[in-house]
Amino acid sequence: VSAGAPAGTRTRAGAAAGAKRGPLGVGIIGAGVISAQYLRNLTGFPDVEVLFVADLDVARASARALEFGIPGHGTVAELLAEPGIEIVVNLTTPAAHAEVGLQILAAGKHVWTEKPLALDLESGRRLLDAATDRGLRVASAPDTFLGAGLQTGLRAVRRGAIGEPLTGLALFQSPGPEAWHPNPEFLFAAGGGPLFDMGPYYLTLLVQVFGPAARVTASASTSKARRAIGSGPRAGTEFEVSVPTHHSALIEFAGGASALAVFSFQAHLRRSPLVEVSGTDGSIAFPDPNQFAGDTQLATAGGDETLSPAGPVSGRGTGVLELARAIRSGATERASGALGYHVLDIMVSISRSAREGRPVDVASTVDRAATLPEDWDPSAATLTREREPRH
Ligand SMILES: NC(=O)c1ccc[n+]([C@@H]2O[C@H](COP(=O)([O-])OP(=O)(O)OC[C@H]3O[C@@H](n4cnc5c(N)ncnc54)[C@H](O)[C@@H]3O)[C@@H](O)[C@H]2O)c1
Repeated sequence: VSAGAPAGTRTRAGAAAGAKRGPLGVGIIGAGVISAQYLRNLTGFPDVEVLFVADLDVARASARALEFGIPGHGTVAELLAEPGIEIVVNLTTPAAHAEVGLQILAAGKHVWTEKPLALDLESGRRLLDAATDRGLRVASAPDTFLGAGLQTGLRAVRRGAIGEPLTGLALFQSPGPEAWHPNPEFLFAAGGGPLFDMGPYYLTLLVQVFGPAARVTASASTSKARRAIGSGPRAGTEFEVSVPTHHSALIEFAGGASALAVFSFQAHLRRSPLVEVSGTDGSIAFPDPNQFAGDTQLATAGGDETLSPAGPVSGRGTGVLELARAIRSGATERASGALGYHVLDIMVSISRSAREGRPVDVASTVDRAATLPEDWDPSAATLTREREPRH
């Protein structure tokens, strides 16, 4: 692997040799809120086949499996014992991500994990090392940057539409998700808060634009020590807030560019999600980095231009499909564990900078991922079961 080569273009020696063929069997651990979106999309991609849904709450797993016509459902141990499953999608809450990921790898299966990769750098590193030791992969959400919306914006930046990107502005602010999530405690505990919950979408996009971050300077605040659940059967129940509900950060990138980012669950003025980047020759406004579609706005001396998403629009699970195809071809997946780890490193560094009141260096680094071809089609069946003829 040569330094500087974009992910998605490298070949892992031997990865494809003697490998299995055809669509990859997928298992899902965690049958909560987000599993519905994953199941809806993954069951529509011919290159993967969802075989099993598991949860600590077995009844919840069964209900989800029934809803989407998935043949297997039950415990995590039962899922991990299924020989046809090659990729396990980890949709548990953040505190369980690393531990469940390690169990998946120990069972000899590849991991797709929801964000954040882990709660801290040590467990994130342990997860990536365990995968390397076993010749398996860990890939990580978000996969929104693989959607046609953000890919269209990224292709414009890569072809020089704004010249050299110099400065960025990222803003997410809302009153907080406890109004709509029926079990929102994890969103206000370690691994949550607006930084760890929403930050991954914005920071992943910024890294795709500017390359790796090198240093952060941040401040934080917490508006309320307790909040109340706003929907579902437990509405009205109060819970403790144990992480900051606002972070402001200055991010300096290794290449010399910088970005200002605000992540807030304590703003009653709702703002549209914002990621804007200005370069030597123009500015670009990306669509919502938590979505797969949306228009990109370009502004240059030549005038303004709206770019609608080029290529098919798919939703959550696109990264699982891209991982599956990369496993079969031997290429490196774009939403890689290394990218998830670098984004985790930026978030851990932002929290630390705010806590300690000083700039913090970001030690890890990662290459930007190659953009997807415009004709990359999630609904295509590209993995055949037939063996190539012997010569
Ligand atoms: N809700 C959203 O809109 C959303 C969007 C994008 C990403 N995510 C991410 O997806 C993940 C899950 O979020 P959610 O909203 O679906 O949460 P949720 O609380 O609705 O569901 C999580 C499920 O995981 C199960 N679980 C927890 N620990 C487990 C373990 N050790 N083994 C097996 N099952 C376990 C729980 O029983 C629960 O059913 C989080 O990482 C979150 O950041 C959520």
